[in-house]
Amino acid sequence: MKSMLKRPIGVFDSGIGGLTVVKALTETLPTESIVYFGDTARVPYGTKSKSTVIKFSLENIEFLLRCGVKCIVIACNTASAWALPELSEYFRVPIIGVIRPGAHAAAQYTKNKRIGVIGTKSTVFSGAYEDAVKEVDASIKVYSQSCPLFVPLVEEGMVRGAICNQLVEDYLKKIKRSQVDTLILGCTHYPLLTNSIRAYMGKKVKLVDSAKQAARDVRGVLMGTQMLTDSKAKPKYKFYVTDEPQHFHNIGKRFLGRVIEHVDKVNGQH
Ligand code: DGL
Repeated sequence: MKSMLKRPIGVFDSGIGGLTVVKALTETLPTESIVYFGDTARVPYGTKSKSTVIKFSLENIEFLLRCGVKCIVIACNTASAWALPELSEYFRVPIIGVIRPGAHAAAQYTKNKRIGVIGTKSTVFSGAYEDAVKEVDASIKVYSQSCPLFVPLVEEGMVRGAICNQLVEDYLKKIKRSQVDTLILGCTHYPLLTNSIRAYMGKKVKLVDSAKQAARDVRGVLMGTQMLTDSKAKPKYKFYVTDEPQHFHNIGKRFLGRVIEHVDKVNGQH
């Protein structure tokens, strides 16, 4: 394992949203290098079938393994929901998704045993968050809602204002009526809507950011397998996408919180 320490963490997502997970990783594990893979030519995954998401995820994992990563983080909620249970045991490196960390944190927070989950159509349809919450406490009630227009809204930078507020209300009103005290932001893009969602749900509802919880889990896994880096050098970040990098480069800063210096395009089938 010693030779693995200095290797980067691999992260993949359907596109740009997984940069929220990279941001959380850089905050929790500031000395680790990261290779990010965004499948921008095939985004979105949130409307696709289980078999397609598994196929794409497998190709993404194989790409990251060729980059020599020491573990893989599935930043995409949809891919975590569909592909992680099917693929995790077939690889020699640990594979960590975002669903279980978010769900388990929410199950700890809730006092009234009512949790809301918002995500893509596929994530909600999979029932993965609900299953993971019930692993902790089967008596918790889970209220799920897909919010398909949130992804383009965030990518257009419309994270406040009348249109945003209207969509937040439309999507969340049922969950609000269910009197949840905890709401899981079960999609890579939703942390950017935190202010609008909090304003609508009220300050008493705890918002759980799966990205932050997943970053803590990654730290736990690396500690547990003695793979935390011991390097004192500045960490390196590499970004790969499958479509032309310009769009990713332009809007990536909003997700990552810093300018992305360089993005490389890799070809189809990676
Ligand atoms: N990354 C996806 C997720 O977290 C959202 C975008 C997509 O639909 O591909 O589910």
